[in-house]
Amino acid sequence: MDRGANGRTGRGRRRGVTALALAGIVGITGCARGCTSSRPPIHPNPSMFNQPKVLPQTASPFFYNGASMREPVPGTIPIGGLKEDEALFTGKGADGQFVAKIPVAVDDALVERGHDRFRIYCQPCHDARGDGKGILFQRGNVPTASLHQENIRNYPDGQIFDVITNGKGLMASYRWPIPPADRWAIIAYVRELERKRLAGAPGASTSAAAPADQPANSK
Ligand code: HEC
Repeated sequence: MDRGANGRTGRGRRRGVTALALAGIVGITGCARGCTSSRPPIHPNPSMFNQPKVLPQTASPFFYNGASMREPVPGTIPIGGLKEDEALFTGKGADGQFVAKIPVAVDDALVERGHDRFRIYCQPCHDARGDGKGILFQRGNVPTASLHQENIRNYPDGQIFDVITNGKGLMASYRWPIPPADRWAIIAYVRELERKRLAGAPGASTSAAAPADQPANSK
């Protein structure tokens, strides 16, 4: 600082007056911190407060379609989004027909995972044994398909995948809550239920919780 300036008395007094005036302004306009106000804040240096940037999902007169966000280039694939295995993700083969068999290896772990997901996503309506006597049927008398009926037993696995993915008739789609791998796991479990029912296995038709502890046959 220019210490020499203090030598002149007039300058010193003026400084004191300025400091008092500033303190007064702060006093009048409110406290510096810890107070709330309904008035817009004063920005002595507003350069960082108002940024001319685009916010997501807003309108913009800049682009011909009036939207600020651009659409991805056609054919863009997000990381992890490449779905080359058509059967796995659609239940249909290259010929457009439902695949007959689950396109992943069926083992005990898959069936167990399927049981777990079935309990969450299917059992409320189709009941633990797959007879379709779940809550909708009990409370609303809604006709819910039995998974043991002959035509469903004869469905290609891919068709059940399609029912879970897209829904069917009164049944809603479970595309979003159930990822494709889990849909196949559920199908593996449903097939297991059907097989046990056909074989007359004691656990399958009498006890709701039994099937998981029986060894799963490979397909
Ligand atoms: C909210 C109740 C509800 C849930 C949950 C539910 N379903 Fe269904 N499902 C139904 C009803 C109702 C029908 C009969 C639809 C119709 O015929 O209109 C049905 C029909 C079906 C059919 C036969 C479709 C056809 O082609 O006739 C299959 C297979 C099936 N469900 C499998 C499943 C599986 C697997 C799950 C678990 C991922 C599941 N459902 C979850 C209510 C449900």
